[in-house]
Amino acid sequence: MTKKLIAGNWKMNGSLAANEALVQALLAGLAANAALCDVAVCVPTPYLAQLQALLSNGGMALGAQDVSAFEGGAYTGEVSVSMLKEFGVRYCLVGHSERRLYHGETDALVATKAQRVLAAGMTPIVCVGETLAEREAGRTEEVVKRQLAAVISANGHCVSEIVVAYEPVWAIGTGKTASPEQAQQVHAVLRAQLQAASAHADRIQILYGGSMNAANAHSLLAQPDIDGGLIGGAALKAADFLTIIAAAQ
Ligand code: PGA
Repeated sequence: MTKKLIAGNWKMNGSLAANEALVQALLAGLAANAALCDVAVCVPTPYLAQLQALLSNGGMALGAQDVSAFEGGAYTGEVSVSMLKEFGVRYCLVGHSERRLYHGETDALVATKAQRVLAAGMTPIVCVGETLAEREAGRTEEVVKRQLAAVISANGHCVSEIVVAYEPVWAIGTGKTASPEQAQQVHAVLRAQLQAASAHADRIQILYGGSMNAANAHSLLAQPDIDGGLIGGAALKAADFLTIIAAAQ
C-alpha cells in the first residue's frame, strides 16, 4: 500500500504571527501522535524562510505553491526552483486550478514547471480537475486525462516521481466535496493512465482535494486509489488538519 500524503495548501493566507501559532500547534499535535503518513504544508513564498526555521526539527515537509517555468534571469516577480531549494522546499504545487484560471496557465506550462521541479530534485504536486460545466457535459475523464497527459509526455519515465492531486474545481472552497465514489472513479482513471506510462505507477501518490475536512476525510481516504489529500481551508485550523492526518493512518 502506498504511504499516504496529507498536504496543506495555505493559499494566500497567513502572517508571521499566525503561521507560528499554527505550526507550533501542528508540531505539538504530531509530537503527541506521530504521523504514519507524510505531512507537508505549501506556504506563500515570503514565509519560506520562517517555515524552514520552524520545521528544522522535522515533523512536516515544506512545500511551495508555484514556481517559474524559467531557470532564472529577467522574469520580474518570478521565483525559480533553485531559490525554492535553498529554503529546504521538498514539494511544489504546479497547475493548481487557481493558477490555471486566474493566471492563464496552460497544460504545456504546467508540464514545464513539473519538469523544472523534478530536475531540481523536488517533488511536483501536479493538480488536475474539471469544472462544473465540464462535469455536467460528461467531460471529466477527457479533461483530467488531457491535463495529466501533458505532464507525462514532458517527463517520460520521471513521471513516477510526481504526486498527482485530483481537485474537481467545483469542490474547491465551496463546501461541495466529491463523494468518495465520484473521487475514486476519477482516481482509478488517473492510476490507469499512470500505469500505462510507468512501471512504478503504483507508488505514485494520487491525492484528493476539494473541501476535504475533518468530517469527510476518513471516507475519502478509505478509497483504494486515494493516497492522501490536498487541503485548503481545513489546513488553516490545527485541530482540523490534525484530524485529517489521523484519518490517513
Ligand atoms: P479547499 O481547497 O480544501 O479549501 O477546498 C483545496 C485546494 O484548493 O487545494
